Amino acid sequence: MNETASLRARAEIDLAALRANVRVLRERAAGAQLMAVVKSDGYGHGAVPCARAAREAGATWLGTATPHEALALRAAGLDGRIMCWLWTPGGPWREAIDADVDVSVSGMWALREVVAASDGAARPARIQLKADTGLGRSGCQPADWPELVTEALAAERAGRVKVTGLWSHFACADEPGHPSIAAQLAVYRDMVAYAEKEGVEPEVRHLANSPATLTIPEAHFDLVRTGIAMYGISPAPELGTPADFGLRPVMTLAASVALVKDAPAGHGVSYGHHYTTTAETTLGLIPVGYADGVPRHASGTGPVLVGGKVRTVAGRVAMDQFVVDLDGDRPEPGAEAVLFGPGDRGEPTAQDWAEAAGTIAYEIVTRIGARVPRVYVDGTADLTGGVPR
Ligand SMILES: Cc1ncc(COP(=O)(O)O)c(C=O)c1O
Repeated sequence: MNETASLRARAEIDLAALRANVRVLRERAAGAQLMAVVKSDGYGHGAVPCARAAREAGATWLGTATPHEALALRAAGLDGRIMCWLWTPGGPWREAIDADVDVSVSGMWALREVVAASDGAARPARIQLKADTGLGRSGCQPADWPELVTEALAAERAGRVKVTGLWSHFACADEPGHPSIAAQLAVYRDMVAYAEKEGVEPEVRHLANSPATLTIPEAHFDLVRTGIAMYGISPAPELGTPADFGLRPVMTLAASVALVKDAPAGHGVSYGHHYTTTAETTLGLIPVGYADGVPRHASGTGPVLVGGKVRTVAGRVAMDQFVVDLDGDRPEPGAEAVLFGPGDRGEPTAQDWAEAAGTIAYEIVTRIGARVPRVYVDGTADLTGGVPR
């Protein structure tokens, strides 16, 4: 159970920004359809509200990793095309077929299971064959592709499946000019050509994630699968900020200052005493911690906007709380502390936290814990009040 929105902390999710981001990405990939990737609870933003907003802005597909995530979207009433790609033996293949979800098939074991599950189903299973064009993760190796294509076509002729897509995933799309990009494109084209020559008639061919959508137009094909950029975060910070790409961060993470107190010089702060006050000062307690997704790796480095100034986490991030040195300032308990947001009102961004913690912004937003209520707004978050809404 999480808390009501007005208390300890909240993640404000700006659905207007998400819709605007989807429109920007659709313009970038004009001519291709857009799949809104809402796996992992919409990268921490809430899968169902984000999926609805993305649909409103013209996303024709929704994408998830696990079948359970895809089935949850259907159960929430989302119609239209939904695809999921992270399968393990045992399914739930039949549930996906019955829910009209497109399923990814990376190899023979999966094809056999989905064909078996289609026995007696009201419709053929919609399958998308995934090629490993060089990522070296899921997907079918080129050497095994002829067998997979042949067996998929046989199942199609038997009325058990319909091959709706041929697809793959990039390894280094966030590094323009990386030699693997051209190599993967070439392998993908060859594998698609082979399957089509054998008789596959895919509805969609797709390869591009967010960085490829923004920087590799020749990878757009029929459909682009965008995750992080839709949430307004730059997939390649060294190439540009969200604003450079016309995107706006969707999530703002804020907390209520829980306590402000005087402390003398030489006072150790938080577990391990990795921070010690150097002068008489004021300390502010921020009631979120690593249980809420605030990275412990950002101990001593994470930035927070409190009372109009950006402060740094003093000492260790604990499970439920951390401390900032307020240097004599005395915000009221209940004043707002903004860990990250779009950044245009002086608050840090998720990218700032990624740098502070030695990770990527994908991880910062995705790991915000279930204990933090998501509050959905349409438009700019209100960061001016002392008490969170
Ligand atoms: C197969 C697949 N496609 C697309 C995406 C979306 O990637 P991004 O968030 O970089 O747009 C992911 C996410 O990792 C993915 O696993």
